[in-house]
Amino acid sequence: MSASRIDRADITRWIKAHRASFESDLRELVEIPSISMDPSRKGDIARCAEAAAAQIRAAGGTAEILTTAANPVVNGAFLCDPAFPTVTIYNHMDVQPADEPTWRQDPFRMSITNGTYGGRGTTDDKGPALTALHAARYANEKGIPLNIRFLWELEEEIGSPSFDGCLKAHAKKMPTNSVVVSDTVWIARGKPAVSTGLRGMVTALLSLETGCEDRHSGLVGGLARNPLAELAEVIAGCVDARSGKVLIEGFYKNVQKPKKAELDGFLASGFRTSEFQKVHGFKSLRTKDHKAGAAAIWALPTFEVHGITGGYQGPGVKSVVPPRGEVKVSMRLVPNQTPDEALRLLTRHVKKLNKDVVVKGQHGLLPYRGPSDGPLADAAVEALRFAFGRKPAFVREGGSIGAVVTMQQRLKCPIMFIGLSLPEHGYHAPNENYDWEQASGGMVAFTRYFEQLAEQR
Ligand code: BES
Ligand code: MN
Ligand code: MN
Repeated sequence: MSASRIDRADITRWIKAHRASFESDLRELVEIPSISMDPSRKGDIARCAEAAAAQIRAAGGTAEILTTAANPVVNGAFLCDPAFPTVTIYNHMDVQPADEPTWRQDPFRMSITNGTYGGRGTTDDKGPALTALHAARYANEKGIPLNIRFLWELEEEIGSPSFDGCLKAHAKKMPTNSVVVSDTVWIARGKPAVSTGLRGMVTALLSLETGCEDRHSGLVGGLARNPLAELAEVIAGCVDARSGKVLIEGFYKNVQKPKKAELDGFLASGFRTSEFQKVHGFKSLRTKDHKAGAAAIWALPTFEVHGITGGYQGPGVKSVVPPRGEVKVSMRLVPNQTPDEALRLLTRHVKKLNKDVVVKGQHGLLPYRGPSDGPLADAAVEALRFAFGRKPAFVREGGSIGAVVTMQQRLKCPIMFIGLSLPEHGYHAPNENYDWEQASGGMVAFTRYFEQLAEQR
C-alpha cells in the first residue's frame, strides 16, 4: 500500500459542494416506494430503476436497465480504459414495506433533521448506494485509473429470485476484478466493521387445519382439536425459546463452530451486549456475555417465529375454537448449512411432532464466507481508517444478501464489504434513517478504496 495522493482539502470541499446533490438524489429515490414484497408496487419498482439509472448518467456514467424474470437490475458504469482494473459496486434499490404504526413521518417522504435523513430505504440501501455513486463520480473526475461498475438490484428484500438468471445472461458484458457490497452495518457509530460472512436463510409457513369454521368453545371445547395450541406445541418442539437453541433433529450437524480466534475477534471488535440492548430498545437479552452474544447474532444459526395467525384478533376474548392457524418462521443458516437441507430437516421434524401440520418452504439463500486478509481486505481496512480515523473490525453479519453468493459464482471474482449503516439507523424498522456523517465519510472511504484498487494491477 502506497501513501494516499488524495488531497484532503480538495475532497472535503468537493463533498461539501455536492451535499445538496446527494440529498436531492436520495430524496428522489426514497420518495419512490420500491417495495419488492408488494405486487401492487411493480410500477414503482420500474420507476425507481429508471430514476436510479438516470442519476448514474447525470453523474457522468452510463446506465442501462436489464429486465429479468422478476424485477429489473440497473447496470451502470464509469468506464475509462479497458487496461485499467475494474470494481463493481453492489447495492439494492428495493425496500421493505413501511406500515409500522410508529413512524413519526410519512415513510416515503424524505425528512432532513440536523444531517439525518428519515424515510424508508434511507439506510437500506439507497443512502449507501448514492454515497458510493458520489465517490465514483469524484474518483472519475480526478482521473483515478479505475473502471467502476454499478449493479443495483430491485429484489434483494425478497431473496433475489431472478438475479442469478440475470447474471447468467449478462455477466459476460460486465467483466470485473472484484465486487464491493455496501449493505451492511457497523458495530456502533465510530466503530466501523467489515463483514467476512453472511448468514443464509430459509423461510417456511407451518399451517394446520382442524375444522371448517369457528365453533363455540362451550359447545365443542374439550373434544375439538385446537390448531393454535397444536401449532404452539410444534414451535416449542422446534426451538428452546429461552436459549434459542434449535431442537430440530440433525440441525447442527453441518454447522462449522466459530474458532476461538474469531470469537476473540468478535470481542475485540467492541461489540457489547449492553450497547446492543440499548440501541435496539430491548428490555433484556438471552445473555449478557459479549462473546456469546456476538456469536449468537453472527456465527450461529437461528429458528425464528415471525408471526402466528388464526383465531379472533379483535378486542376482548371471543370464545371460539378456530378452525385453522398458521405460523411464519425462518431459519438463519451458517456455513456449511444449506437451505434445502434445513428445510428437509424442519419438515421431517414437524411431521414427527404433528403429522397434520403442512410445511411450505420458500426460496432459500446459502450462507456466505469471505476473507479477512488479502489485498481487498487490506484496502477496505485502510479506506475506513483513512476516512473515519479508526480501523474496522472484522465481523460477520447476521443478515443475508442473496446476491452475494450469486455474484461470487457468476462474476467469478472476490467480494469485499464496505457498509456504512449504523444499528440506530433502524434497518427494516419504523423511522429508518441515514446520516450525512456516514455519507460524507463514506465518500472519502470509497475514494480511498478506489485509489488502492487502481494500484492493484
Ligand atoms: N442489508 C440487509 C442485510 C443485512 C442485515 C446485513 C443485517 C447486515 C445486518 C438486507 O437488505 C436484508 O435485509 N436482507 C434480508 C434478506 C431476506 C429478506 C431474503 C434479510 O437478511 O432478512
Ligand atoms: Mn440491505
Ligand atoms: Mn434489508
